[in-house]
Order: sequence, then C-alpha cells, then structure tokens
Amino acid sequence: MTHHLPSPIIDVDELRAMLAERQPVTVLDIRKAEDRAEWAIPGSMHVDAYEALKAGDPDALAAAAIPMDAPVVTICGAGKVSITAMEQLRHRGYDARSLAGGMKAWSLAWNSADVPVLGSAATVIQVRRTGKGCLSYLIGNDGQAVVIDAALAPEVYQDLATQHGWTISHVVDTHVHADHLSRSRLLAEQTGATLHVPEQDRVMYPFTPVRDGDILGVGSSRIVALRTPGHTLESTCYFLDGEVLFTGDTLFLAGVGRPDLEASPEQARARARLLHASLMRLTALPPGTIILPGHTSEPAPFDHRPITATLTDVISRVGMLGLSEEAFLDAILARIPPTPPNHARIVALNEAGEMPDGDPTDLEAGANRCAVS
Ligand SMILES: [Fe+2]
Repeated sequence: MTHHLPSPIIDVDELRAMLAERQPVTVLDIRKAEDRAEWAIPGSMHVDAYEALKAGDPDALAAAAIPMDAPVVTICGAGKVSITAMEQLRHRGYDARSLAGGMKAWSLAWNSADVPVLGSAATVIQVRRTGKGCLSYLIGNDGQAVVIDAALAPEVYQDLATQHGWTISHVVDTHVHADHLSRSRLLAEQTGATLHVPEQDRVMYPFTPVRDGDILGVGSSRIVALRTPGHTLESTCYFLDGEVLFTGDTLFLAGVGRPDLEASPEQARARARLLHASLMRLTALPPGTIILPGHTSEPAPFDHRPITATLTDVISRVGMLGLSEEAFLDAILARIPPTPPNHARIVALNEAGEMPDGDPTDLEAGANRCAVS
C-alpha cells in the first residue's frame, strides 16, 4: 500500500479552515519586514528570509527555530518564493506546504465569531474578512436572515445561513464602500433577497432605498435604520432590537470614520460637521448598546471572539467623541490617514454595482484605512 502525501501546495480555503478549526499548524511568513508590517496572518511566525531565498541560499531558513511537531505553511506575497521555502523545509524533514497565491490570495480569507446578544431573539454572526479587516454581519431569526455589508463571495454567507437553517431575505449596505468591492448586489442576485442601500443618487443599479427610521423585519426582530451622514453622505447605521448597533464606517471601536474620501477640503469639513452630529446621535443611545463596526484596523484573529464593545467603552476610548463641534473638526481634519489604494476605482465599481474583470484582490490590496483615531 502506498502512502499518499498531502499536496505541498495549500489554498486559502484549506488554510483558513485549519486555522478556524484550531488544527496545529505553523504559519511561516518569509516576507520582508516592511511587507509584513502592512498586514500579516494572525499568529504567524516571521523569518525575514525573502532575499536569501530569492538569492538561492540553501540555508535561508537554517537559523530559524521552526517547530517540527506541526505542519508548516510557508507564505510570501504571491506564492512563489514561499515554494522555495517549502522545498527547503521538506528537504529537512518538515511537513511543509506553500500557500498558493500568497498574501494576495489571503485577502479573501475569512473567519467568523458569534456575537452574544441578550435582549434579542436574533442570532448575530460577525463574518470577518481577516486580512483587510472588513467586518460583515449575518443576522438570523425564525428561519430568515439579513446580511449587512457583504465583503466576501456570496457562498460564504449562503453556507453559513444554510448551516443555521436560515434563508437570506434581505441584503443591506451601510454606505457606498471605498476600500473594498461590495458583494451585496451579487449576494442579493444569487439568493433572490431584497437589496437595500441607503437613499442617494450615486448608485446606478436598482435597489430599495433605505431612509432614516425605516424598519426591516427578520422574523420577530426589528432592524431600524439610523441615517448618520459624515463618512459618506448616505452612511446609515442599523439598530437591532434596541440593543445592537451596526455602525458601518461611522463609528469604530477606537476611532471614527474618515470624512474626506471623494471630497474636496471644503466638502470634507462639511462632512466632518455632519459626522459630529451623527456621532452625537449615536452616543445618546443606551450605554449598554453593543457596537459592531464595519472594519477593524488589525487582521481579525481566528479566535471566534467577536470584535465588539459596548457604547460606554467606545465613548471612553474615542476621545474625539467628547469634543465640541469645532474642536472635533480641528481634531479629525488634522488626523486624516493616507488615502486607501485604488479608492476612486473601487468607489466607481461600487456605484456601478460591478466587479472588475479578473481578480478583485488586485484592486483591494493592502490593509484598511477607513478610520481616524
Ligand atoms: Fe467606508
């Protein structure tokens, strides 16, 4: 009987499943330190061996204390140099594999965490596109489900819904995104769900407009739309059963949304003023409100722990929330981070409701930069 060796190439889905199931594995990142600083796989080990591997140094990894007792998955930017690393390790007796497509492909990796909700009959699942830190949500109740800010392939949400016995009936966006391509339109098409987008005149495909105070039902649960302009003019938060607030890019756990994308300096100032008023509206909600933002600034770990905080905690962390309007304007406009790569192109595609030809991760490369903190 011959022993069947596992393929030395592993794809994103296999690796993300291993991590989600907490299987023993050493994820070995061999990129240069500056590339790793941009984003990395949570819990990965780093050996700055890229140049040595490329130069053909057979001892590129010899000095690193890589554990022998678990499989090793080697990672680089695009999945080529990591093959050399994998071959060197296999030569030394390691059960080593190389991640196909490298960190570029990892852009589509995801994990999930259940969000404990006490005052609602709904189940809330945070679906994290880990590398980019995009947070989307699946809210299920009585056999129905709503998806907020789909950022991954429709199958991810459909499979999770099926596992829980839910049918996706509504797909909702908080705003027109600038850092990733929305998959909401695709998801709505594939599931037959109703597509809801905050009312605006930017989006060119058919949608059901969401206005302030609109209510969406999921089984016995109610999701109320709160129009919170600022990050974008149409930005809208969704309040589930008076307990859970999905804030999109308006309010994060340690920062607020940036008001400057696709805006002149004057428009950014006007939006910052709107944002201040919107944030004052949100901070007046019950202190125990569970905040679920649209992004996190760090890659989401495979720990099944939701990225969330109470409104009280967020207010204590985000000093800008305590400022007067004028002080808030000065503070936020002085702290605008670099603009995300390709944002104009991503916005144009999101307004058209289209995906690019070819690989969407070409456009979506890099970490998220939607927050000011
Ligand atoms: Fe955004």
